[in-house]
Amino acid sequence: MDGNGRWATQRRRPRAFGHRAGVQAVRRVIEGCIRRGVGVLTLFAFSSENWSRPAGEVSHLMDLFLRSLRKQARELAGNGVSLRFIGERARFSPELRAAMAEAETAAVVNPRLTLNIAVNYGGRWDIVNAARELARSVREGRLDPEAIDQATFEQSLSLAPLPEPDLFIRTGGEARVSNFLLWHLAYSEMYFTPVLWPDFDEQALDDAIAEYAQRERRFGKTSAQLREAAHA
Ligand code: IPE
Ligand code: MG
Repeated sequence: MDGNGRWATQRRRPRAFGHRAGVQAVRRVIEGCIRRGVGVLTLFAFSSENWSRPAGEVSHLMDLFLRSLRKQARELAGNGVSLRFIGERARFSPELRAAMAEAETAAVVNPRLTLNIAVNYGGRWDIVNAARELARSVREGRLDPEAIDQATFEQSLSLAPLPEPDLFIRTGGEARVSNFLLWHLAYSEMYFTPVLWPDFDEQALDDAIAEYAQRERRFGKTSAQLREAAHA
């Protein structure tokens, strides 16, 4: 979700104004995903690198995060949204960690949407974390190093047991991954749009999905092989 600051600057308003508008865009996109039958949505809300922003902006973001969570967690659960957070939580305030834990325990059976919010997340952190966890299991004699393959490795990553994303959307015009789900994006379709996050609405979501529908996902195979498989 990129472009909140520029959206505000274009309106001669402080960046905080853009972040608030960004929260409204989050609500719209969650509703849009539910209506369209999207099963899993993962939002990159705050990266492990975002701590380097000016202290005032970081504390405003933390505040906004806490307030939005307190206000919306119950409503999300009521709408059949199962909420999870991925990322390193130790750096957040105790109140924020408590609010996150509480939002996650508002159990939803058969969720209409699984919503992952990546906070203090980094794709490299996720991979290193998984490696450390596996190393610990080996040291404790619970795991044979020879048994480590891609499938077991993936089970130690923070998105497990969810599938890897079909579609990656980055708003705000930059064409980079910025340390998001590095492992999981290996075969995701990439979609970059100049639309600034606060302007990302259901039409923008439909545009992204329409573009996705045009893509041919070959996973290393040839087009001819895919056609044969479709007719078999
Ligand atoms: C994304 O918008 C929101 C967060 C990283 C929290 P930005 O704040 O990066 O907006 P721009 O890139 O400055 O426009
Ligand atoms: Mg940005």
